[in-house]
Amino acid sequence: MNSEKLLNEIISWYPKKELPININEPLISSSDIDAVIKTLDDNWVSTAGPIVNEFETSVSKVFDNKGVVAVNSGTSALHMALVALGVSRKDEVITTPLTFVAPLNAIKYVGGEPLFIDISLQDLSLDINMLNSYAEKYFTDENNIVLDSNTNKKVKALLVVDVFGHIGEVEEYRKFCDKYKLKLIVDSAESLGSKRNNFTSAEFSDVTTASFNGNKIVTSGAGGAVVSGDEELLDKVRHLSTTANKTADKFSYFHDSVGYNYRLPALNAALGNSQIKNLNNKVKTYRDIHKSYAALVKNVEEINIFNEVENSESNYWLNLFMFKNNISKDEKNNLITQLNKNGIGVRNVWNVLHELPFVNKDSLLNYPNAEFVFNNGFNLPTTTKLLKS
Ligand SMILES: Cc1ncc(COP(=O)(O)O)c(C=O)c1O
Repeated sequence: MNSEKLLNEIISWYPKKELPININEPLISSSDIDAVIKTLDDNWVSTAGPIVNEFETSVSKVFDNKGVVAVNSGTSALHMALVALGVSRKDEVITTPLTFVAPLNAIKYVGGEPLFIDISLQDLSLDINMLNSYAEKYFTDENNIVLDSNTNKKVKALLVVDVFGHIGEVEEYRKFCDKYKLKLIVDSAESLGSKRNNFTSAEFSDVTTASFNGNKIVTSGAGGAVVSGDEELLDKVRHLSTTANKTADKFSYFHDSVGYNYRLPALNAALGNSQIKNLNNKVKTYRDIHKSYAALVKNVEEINIFNEVENSESNYWLNLFMFKNNISKDEKNNLITQLNKNGIGVRNVWNVLHELPFVNKDSLLNYPNAEFVFNNGFNLPTTTKLLKS
């Protein structure tokens, strides 16, 4: 591979005067600023006030009109989902090795144990065929409790992640969870506004979670949401995330369990609510950015770009580029370093989670697909500045 040539080719995609370009910058409009100022003027700065409810309604519209509880991050949304679904110490949660660390952290917060199943190279989400084969081999039903005879753990839930905006085979995950009586959680932090077979994952999951962190397609600064069709579960999340205060009046304190201070402040909700109005346009813009990258990458021998599967509409939150032939770690890291030095905010794909030091290595399987993407992949900035080049 001619690294110098590839480096110069990628640099040429961005207008010099626009550099540096970050991986995914928030686009804050004047109406976003007005919305935050109005909330300050109205004196709603904390978790109280009408704007948090308005934001929940807006988020609900994005997720097939399911119920929503807004929380202060995507990570706390995942944590609340697991607590509310009753996942606890030593329970096994099936999950994916190729994602940001948040889902794994949430499993660890409740004392659970992850069982990693490799990803599909079609949509980057957990491979349902591998999962079915594993379950057929090892899962047994003991009085309505699913035991994994390979790990000797109780299996409670499947936690899948929509990676870089691409929704996985959620209808198949639902069938799997129905068959084994497991709960299905979908982490949609990266896939707000995406569809597969015309639906979001919320149509099929027990709980879907969202993030409105600064690098997401819609940001509230920091924020997240728990989305579900199960109102009882949402009541539980609302209660637990508001420190589990159980008084009928607003002047007293009585906490009926360990609670969490996870509710979204109104200031963040104001920004999120203004931003989410523009979601459809942003999805269109991000899809145009993908098209521009796809056209540019056509002329490059060494790399390709990841495309959505049929019948899906990805928000292309981040574009994934992969080397067609295996590349050494040093060569890839050198390219990433050089691009960053030239003002292009490239990111490595997350280190596969099963290699992290706090993961128990006893029940690991093989993860060739996740490792392939980790070893060969990188993300270029999602930026409209590319369109001007
Ligand atoms: C897949 C995924 N899940 C969860 C999170 C966590 O969200 P937050 O940063 O809002 O806690 C992120 C990223 O931020 C993510 O990319």
